Amino acid sequence: MTKLDQTNKRDNFTGLFGVIAAAAGSAIGLGNIWRFPYVLGDNGGGAFLLLYLGFIITICVPVMLSELLIGRKAQLSIFGAFRKLAPGSLWWIIGLMGVAASFMILSFYAVVAGWTLEYAFFALKNHFAGMTPAELKHTFDYLTGSTWRPVVFMLIFMFITAIIVQSGIKKGIERYTKILMPLLLVIILVLCVRSLTLDGASAGLEFLFKPDFSAITTNTVMMALGQAFFSLSLGMGVMATYGSYIKKRESLGKTAVFVTITDVFIAILAGIAIFPAVFAFGLQPGQESLEGPGLVFMILPGIFNQMAGGYFFSVLFFFLLVIAALTSSISLMEVVVAYFVEELKIKRVKATWIAAASMSFLSALSAVDGRIFNFFENTSSNILLPLGGLLIVIFVGWFLGKKIVREELEADGRVAFYFRLFVPAIRFLAPIAIAMVFLNALGIIRF
Ligand code: PFF
Repeated sequence: MTKLDQTNKRDNFTGLFGVIAAAAGSAIGLGNIWRFPYVLGDNGGGAFLLLYLGFIITICVPVMLSELLIGRKAQLSIFGAFRKLAPGSLWWIIGLMGVAASFMILSFYAVVAGWTLEYAFFALKNHFAGMTPAELKHTFDYLTGSTWRPVVFMLIFMFITAIIVQSGIKKGIERYTKILMPLLLVIILVLCVRSLTLDGASAGLEFLFKPDFSAITTNTVMMALGQAFFSLSLGMGVMATYGSYIKKRESLGKTAVFVTITDVFIAILAGIAIFPAVFAFGLQPGQESLEGPGLVFMILPGIFNQMAGGYFFSVLFFFLLVIAALTSSISLMEVVVAYFVEELKIKRVKATWIAAASMSFLSALSAVDGRIFNFFENTSSNILLPLGGLLIVIFVGWFLGKKIVREELEADGRVAFYFRLFVPAIRFLAPIAIAMVFLNALGIIRF
């Protein structure tokens, strides 16, 4: 936030495209390109994709719209927003949960971003040239298994994030995401074409798109919901912050729909880039040798090896992936910094470095111990984010008042459309669906 924000005159994005680019910058990141393929691979493929899409439509779009609406109405980030919209109540606890989630997420996110950074440098040195899948796996295990390397690269990444956050997140975000995100999209498309034209690629498409319902377990359902929240940066107030920068005349509905479609599109493209190659290399997703967070790091360099211009594309790809991770990590760190600044009255620069130092400490733990990494990853995405989302839709659906909701959705002149769909979705559909996933995970109901 800039000085203007602190005096409460919010300095808005230049237009809807700027807001969408920034919100999409937070949403699109390692979640789409690193996490989506591996979680899908470990959870049975097509059936997971179907659940994921179902959750996005029924739960995530309503949650995103609710967050944007809270932020724009209050013109404040999530903490101040609840204080203003529901004074004297306990709703601000959602903001506190968001702070906890952002600590946890950044603690493993920065580790993966550090691996990406390291891969970018190795790509620059043409280190992966000619490596077999087994050698690529060995390289991944070696790099991430070292005690100091992941910590050093994580620290570099955290440092860059903090530098951007300390001087206010918006100026940079708007300028760079507009150019770099489309560039990343182009490279992913190129990767898709190469992967699809490898011999034996069709088995990968079948794995991705042909649902095998017998693969669905309680865990799959929870992972699909958690991945949907994680990928769209929902449930912790990030979208509320961006909502507070959207001008009154811009459409929140369009923003939510556009960000969601772009995010899902990129995740599916990442799947199309990865799985045909997995099968073409004679491997099987979800197998012990190919499960977990290493998937894209073991497969992508192999595809670049098979490409004309592979060296050029691989260097560009890994650097752009670092940037995609950065536009997400700054939104994560911003949640904590906003809390320190607004609630604890700490100055912005100091708040940023306190946040960065404490997050780096947690992150170092995740970097050296896979169990801590997994704990942070699962607790934040599968529990904290959906729980935050549940409380947010309940707040907007049942406590905020229809008049305010209508007013915010009216801004684009198409009130009937969004409003009619939105109210039943946030009052009933989304909360019931999230609650059912939780009850199922706890073993209280079975489906
Ligand atoms: N959505 C980001 C990604 O897919 O990489 C990760 C993320 C950012 C999650 C911000 C949550 C968040 F609040």
